[in-house]
Amino acid sequence: MNQSTTRETLASRLGFILLSAGCAIGLGNVWRFPYITGRYGGAAFVLIYVLFLVILGLPVMVMELSIGRASKKNIGLAFQTLTPKKKGWPVYGKFAIVGNYVLMMFYTTISGWLFSYFFHMLKGDFSGRDAQAVSSFFSSMLGNPLGMTFWMLLAVILGFLPVARGLQSGVEKITKYMMIGLLALMLVLAANSLSLKGGAEGLRFYLIPDFSRMAENGLFEAIYAAMGQAFFTLSLGIGSIAIFGSYIGKEHRLTGEAVRIISLDTFVALASGLIIFPAAFAFNIQPDAGPSLIFITLPNIFEQMAGGRFWGSLFFLFMSFAALSTLIAVFENIISFWIDTKGVSRKKATLYNAIAIFLLSLPCLLGFNVLSSFQPFGAGTGVLDLEDFIVSSTLLPLGSLIFTLYCTWKYGWGWNAFLDEANSGEGLKFPHGLRFYFKFILPAIIIGLFTKGYWDIFIK
Ligand code: ALA
Repeated sequence: MNQSTTRETLASRLGFILLSAGCAIGLGNVWRFPYITGRYGGAAFVLIYVLFLVILGLPVMVMELSIGRASKKNIGLAFQTLTPKKKGWPVYGKFAIVGNYVLMMFYTTISGWLFSYFFHMLKGDFSGRDAQAVSSFFSSMLGNPLGMTFWMLLAVILGFLPVARGLQSGVEKITKYMMIGLLALMLVLAANSLSLKGGAEGLRFYLIPDFSRMAENGLFEAIYAAMGQAFFTLSLGIGSIAIFGSYIGKEHRLTGEAVRIISLDTFVALASGLIIFPAAFAFNIQPDAGPSLIFITLPNIFEQMAGGRFWGSLFFLFMSFAALSTLIAVFENIISFWIDTKGVSRKKATLYNAIAIFLLSLPCLLGFNVLSSFQPFGAGTGVLDLEDFIVSSTLLPLGSLIFTLYCTWKYGWGWNAFLDEANSGEGLKFPHGLRFYFKFILPAIIIGLFTKGYWDIFIK
């Protein structure tokens, strides 16, 4: 049975925007964005990234929201609801849902690390440790599967609790408060970081473009990384944004709504850079330290700062909020799939999925210890890298390509039906005049990205 007659909706427009922004804002903004910006030389990379948000992220987000709003269904059912006679498309709906599960299979573990760092920072466990000791704290955490299981389980529980409470009273309400808190905290921390002595060099690195520095790690690599980051940060391609379109009415045009969501996401990413780069330069930490930038180096930074325990706790708290808002949003998408397709009750779907996600998350954390001999992409790689590859290099670009073709080609939903939906309501219109770009050039860019990901891993 499907429950279209009793489908829940969001209480307010603000709730919709903050919830969609909460789905977008996450580890991609506060962890991945700063470290890849550091790797590709700072400001020039940021410019290219913002360009991709506009030419690639914005249209794909409008398409996802339109598919959700027109079908009033989860992505697992959206294609067959909109175009029942057109075969083939619904196959991807199931893959998209699998993508949500795989994303959560590693997201819960990294979110657990953040919760654990918040707890230890608050407790003062980093006080008095030198750089070496902070580093070994991180590696001993990775070597302790039981400890990591505890924090991962906490992430699963905290993520599913609001989902069990319901869409308006749980998911919307809690995420709204958390996002407002997060946005305020970002401003305070960025202002604090800007006032650090010695931070000016970090600001120059972050704000003044230097294309030759960007090209040091390969110009094409930098462009590829910027495109991948645009997909990841906006959670595009697996229907986790579409679901929030399915919960709203037609009062507002979707291009304007997408601009608001992307602006909030970009604000958090840019503010993370403002927090991290001046601080890193002020305390002599290399900006290209890689994925460990936050976990190994930041406790050192806070350790050397006046009031560091306080600022460090706040920092890891806001990072935990960002991760949690994505967990809640993606869990909501997963639950709505079971409600829409099988008519399962919200409570039952939440309970079974919480157990399933907990079990499915174990391989990722065991990959750092018990299963560390499994190295799918060569020495030093693990289960996390495999899961990240399946999501970031496969399903996100593939899904975005499918949404684009579906919305612009007559073999799918078609341009006119898509445009009618996107432009229903008040606000910014989707640019009709750029049809050629959306139909041919945008898919070509995505195919290029997809191919490059596979080429680098399997052929190069
Ligand atoms: N969009 C989510 C993030 O940035 C996946 O973490």
